[in-house]
Amino acid sequence: MNLRIFESEIELDWEAAKALQFEIKNKPNLKLGLATGMSPVGLYRELVNLYNAGELSFRDVTSYNLDEYVGLDREHPYSFFQFMNQHLFKHIDLDEERIHIPNGCVEDVEKEVKRYNSLLGQEGQLDVQILGIGLNGHIGFNEPGETLSADTHIVTLSEHTRKVNSKYFNTLEEVPKKAITMGIGNILRAKKIIFIAKGEEKSEIVRQAFKGPVDPNCPGTFLQLHGNVDVFLDLGAAKGLA
Ligand code: GLP
Repeated sequence: MNLRIFESEIELDWEAAKALQFEIKNKPNLKLGLATGMSPVGLYRELVNLYNAGELSFRDVTSYNLDEYVGLDREHPYSFFQFMNQHLFKHIDLDEERIHIPNGCVEDVEKEVKRYNSLLGQEGQLDVQILGIGLNGHIGFNEPGETLSADTHIVTLSEHTRKVNSKYFNTLEEVPKKAITMGIGNILRAKKIIFIAKGEEKSEIVRQAFKGPVDPNCPGTFLQLHGNVDVFLDLGAAKGLA
């Protein structure tokens, strides 16, 4: 784990963007795993700034999102596709043909899971995977439990996760109950992971994830098994590591 702690969120976002810019300049056809949630939003903002300044191009990059809600299509305002579109996709030169995200609005969800999983399998290792972590230790939508799935799968979201994510919806009832998510194996296969956590509310789960026993009841702990995780924390999120 390459731990970097920042006094300010802005500095964290900028340094994370510079780290990704370095990777993309080294490999313009980089395979990039993307996360939603508020933690990577500042990184995406700084990537857009680098693109607007002519200092970064996504022309040959291919992106793969971690997850998508079952029942929401790409046009739904609260879909993860729209989240990514608002924060990143519509502002940069990433080719829409090379944007990959599970399709949550299909008749046969199991078939879509197999499609996405085999796409990831065919692509081999993603070069960089951006990650946040849920307050219950989930990564992507790999929820705590007695077991974890290695491959892409359908997950029944915990009530805790639905409640936390209801901030993006009008009501809790509107939050989908299921999602399609990359599995822990898909995630750990990435050559490099850029992990971002901010705020004191994440300090305990960050401590557990990186200092606690590897345990499927805290999926974030599986990041300890990966040999190339760049961890970007602000002072609040780093409190538990002191
Ligand atoms: C969602 C996403 C996760 C993300 C988590 C934390 O559950 N599926 O990929 O890491 O939220 O979000 P935030 O960064 O807003 O705390």
